[in-house]
Amino acid sequence: MTQHANFLWGTATSSYQIEGAVAEDGRTPSIWDTFCATPGTVTDGDTGAVACDHYHRMPEDVAIMAELGMDVYRFSLAWPRVQPDGTGGGNPAGIAFYDRLVDELLAKGIRPWVTLYHWDLPQALEDAGGWPNRDTAYRFADYAAIAYDALGDRVDQWTTLNEPWCSAFLGYVTGQHAPGRQDARAGMAALHHLLLGHGLATRAIRDRAETSGRSDRLEVGITLNLAPKIPASDSPADVAAARWADGFDNRLYLDPLLRGEYPADIADKLDELGCPLPVGDGDLALIAQPLDVLGVNYYSSQAVQAGRVGQNGWPSPVALRRDVPRTAMDWEVTPAALTDLLLRLEREYPGPAWYITENGAAYADVPDENGYVDDVERAEYLRSHIDATLEARARGANVRGYFAWSLLDNFEWAFGYDRRFGIVRVDYDTLRRTPKRSARYYAERVAAEKDKA
Ligand code: NOJ
Repeated sequence: MTQHANFLWGTATSSYQIEGAVAEDGRTPSIWDTFCATPGTVTDGDTGAVACDHYHRMPEDVAIMAELGMDVYRFSLAWPRVQPDGTGGGNPAGIAFYDRLVDELLAKGIRPWVTLYHWDLPQALEDAGGWPNRDTAYRFADYAAIAYDALGDRVDQWTTLNEPWCSAFLGYVTGQHAPGRQDARAGMAALHHLLLGHGLATRAIRDRAETSGRSDRLEVGITLNLAPKIPASDSPADVAAARWADGFDNRLYLDPLLRGEYPADIADKLDELGCPLPVGDGDLALIAQPLDVLGVNYYSSQAVQAGRVGQNGWPSPVALRRDVPRTAMDWEVTPAALTDLLLRLEREYPGPAWYITENGAAYADVPDENGYVDDVERAEYLRSHIDATLEARARGANVRGYFAWSLLDNFEWAFGYDRRFGIVRVDYDTLRRTPKRSARYYAERVAAEKDKA
C-alpha cells in the first residue's frame, strides 16, 4: 500500500454555524440562541437564526462537496433538533433532516462523519444546571443513543464532543461563549462532566454497534483543540508558564482520555484554587475507554511567557508576539508546530488514529463583482498545513485524514459573521455560494494526493 492510501480528505462544519431554521420542525432553543439574544455578546448582534440557511439548501452544499472531490464530510447534529429539551424520545421531524443529509452524502459517494456535540446544548438542560451538573453527562449519553439508533445503519464515524475546552472554559469560566457564565468552579465541573459524557456516550454507541453487528466498522472518538505551547525563552519562569499552559489547555484533556488520569500538577493546582475536578468512582475508567480516533483541531501555536499571577491566584501566562504572519483572528501561522504536535501525540499518547478534524484560516476576503474571492493567503495556509500533516505521517504519526475548516463561510461564534473561514464564499444577502481560489486549490491538491496513493 502506498503512503496516502486510507487517508480521508474532507471539509467540516457545525450545526449552529450553518443551519439556520432555528425554530423549524420542533427544534427548541439552544444555549447559543439564548446567548445571541443577549445584548453585547456577539459582534453586531449577529445570530444563527438564518446562518447559511443550510437547512434548506443542503443538497446544493453536498453538490459542492462532490464537485470538490471530497471523500468525507464532518458535520454536527443539533441536539435540540434531535431531542428537544434534552430528555425523552427523539424528534422524528428533526431527525428527518439528518436522514436526508446522510442519504444525500452517500448518494454522492461522500462518507458522513457525525459530531454529536458542537456546543448547542438544549437551553432546557442549561436551565437545569448545564454541564456543571453531573446529570447532563447522562442526558448526553441518552441523546447519543437516540442519534446512533437513527443514523448508525449508515454512519460509521462518530465524534462525541468538539473542543470540550471551549465548552468548559469559554462557556463557564470566561463567559465569552454560551452560556456566558463566569464561574471557574462551575467551569472545572463542566470540564469533568463533558469528559464523563464522552465516556458514557462512547459506551452507549459501542454497545449498540455490537448488538447490531456493526462494531467492526465503527470508529468513535473525540475532537480536541490542541495548540502547542512553546516556552518563549529558556528562563525557568517561561518554561514553567508554558508547562502550565500546555497542562491546562492540552494535558488536562489528553491525559484522562488516553492515560486514565488527570495530570497531577494541574489537578493539584485546581484543588488549591478551590475549583476541584469532581471525579466520582469509576469516572476515569469510563473516560479512558479505548478511543478509535482522536480528532485534532489545529489552527496555531503560542510562544508562552510568564505573566503576572492573575485573579484569585490563577496562573496567567502571556503569549509573546512572534514575527510570523497572522490571520484575521490574529492567530499566528505556524505550520511546523502541527508536525511537531502530531509527532508528540504519537510518542506520548500512542493508540488512536489521529485525524485533523479542523484546520483553516479567517482572512478579510474581498469578492469581485461575481462574488469570487482570490484568497491566495487561505490557499497558502491550507498548502502549508497539509504539507505539515503529511510530513508527520511520513515520519510515523498515524494520521488518517484531514478536514478543511470550513466548507462555507459561517457564524463564527462571538465574532458573528465578521470572520470568514470558508473555502466557499457565502453572500449573506443572497445566500449565494461561490467557491474561492482556496476551494480550487484544495480540490486540485486532493486529486493530486489521491493520484499518488
Ligand atoms: C474551532 C471550532 O470547532 C469551530 O466551531 C470554529 O469555527 C473554528 N474553531 C474557528 O474558530
